[in-house]
Amino acid sequence: MYCTRNITESIHWVGGSDRRLALFENLFPIPRGVAYNSYLILDEKTALIDTVDSSITRQFVENILHTLGGRPLDYLVVNHMEPDHCASIEELMLRFPNLQIVGNAKTFALIGQFYHLPLEGRTVTVKEGDTLPLGRHTLCFTFTPMVHWPEVMMTYERSEKILFSADAFGSFGALGGNLFNDELHFERDWLPDARRYFANIVGKYGPQVQAALKKLSGVDIRLICPLHGPVWRSDLAWFLNKYDLWSRYEPEERAVALFYGSMYGDTENAVNILAGQLAQAGVQDIAVYDVSSTHVSQLIAEIFRCSHLVFAAPTYNNGVYPAMANLLHDMKALNVQNRTVGLVENGSWAPAAGKQMAAMLGELKGMQILEPVVTLKSALDEQSLAALTQLGESLAESLRA
Ligand code: FEO
Repeated sequence: MYCTRNITESIHWVGGSDRRLALFENLFPIPRGVAYNSYLILDEKTALIDTVDSSITRQFVENILHTLGGRPLDYLVVNHMEPDHCASIEELMLRFPNLQIVGNAKTFALIGQFYHLPLEGRTVTVKEGDTLPLGRHTLCFTFTPMVHWPEVMMTYERSEKILFSADAFGSFGALGGNLFNDELHFERDWLPDARRYFANIVGKYGPQVQAALKKLSGVDIRLICPLHGPVWRSDLAWFLNKYDLWSRYEPEERAVALFYGSMYGDTENAVNILAGQLAQAGVQDIAVYDVSSTHVSQLIAEIFRCSHLVFAAPTYNNGVYPAMANLLHDMKALNVQNRTVGLVENGSWAPAAGKQMAAMLGELKGMQILEPVVTLKSALDEQSLAALTQLGESLAESLRA
């Protein structure tokens, strides 16, 4: 049975959600599921904006057939050619023999690579700034490459001022009836997953997101319809500001998160003491994470949120404890910048993690490492406790500044 919602009188949400998938991209845990959004415009011509993942094709097709009410589908606009949005193209081509697929040159190259579909005579290739009239509605295409793949474009519907934004402004999380951001408590219930989605999926492409934001800055936008998560129809500036901060790699909050790896509890003990010292100095909302038991995507999201970070890890095989090394590697891959950092190393006979963590962080732009780097030899003693206290004072002072 169909399950749709109206975006406006003539534009309909025909997507769906998957609460069964454990790992998005077979990488990222999504305990709250994920939504695949698709939007159908009814006018003199009918146009669908993107399709959905194969996991919900059956629901998707029911939604489209119901909404069309017996009319043919004239156009399918492919804003993004990643398979979580494209897996149903062939199904639609078979059901609607006159369907024209709208994309750019890169879109069609990727369709060819993924699906080997018979596209002859069934494509409309658009360029930057091209328009497609549907009747009362007009679609305008603007290219936003690498947000998050090279072919990505956004589609702006001129008459109703709606931006179909592809992956941008999306979030992990299945939709539960409430589709619009003002129907749910976004900041409380969705922001952590929106941040985790941005940081891990789009985080590397900050400059490209900045270019897209610049392009959109002069456009009168009433609604933002992303491919994942809620549709934005209020407080657009609030969420645009989050995207601006994240994509400039500026911290969202003046706050501290402490990340530790610990084999026998001694490094963890040092971090707990440091956190307590910070709290005693008046620092609030301190976040502490065990890098071995917290998924790296969650850690990365917190790194995008916080201005101050502490990394504490044992030396392992002359290197950095693997779970911590993995986090630092991911930070580099995702282009993290502009943070103030404290370091704690442990090493029972040849401590080396501190130097190596500093070197890895030194490859990132704008990272300031506070003094002192604290060295534990197995467990805290009076000397290392004094150094830890000094680091706590440096952190608290920097957080106050
Ligand atoms: Fe939701 Fe880049 O795909």
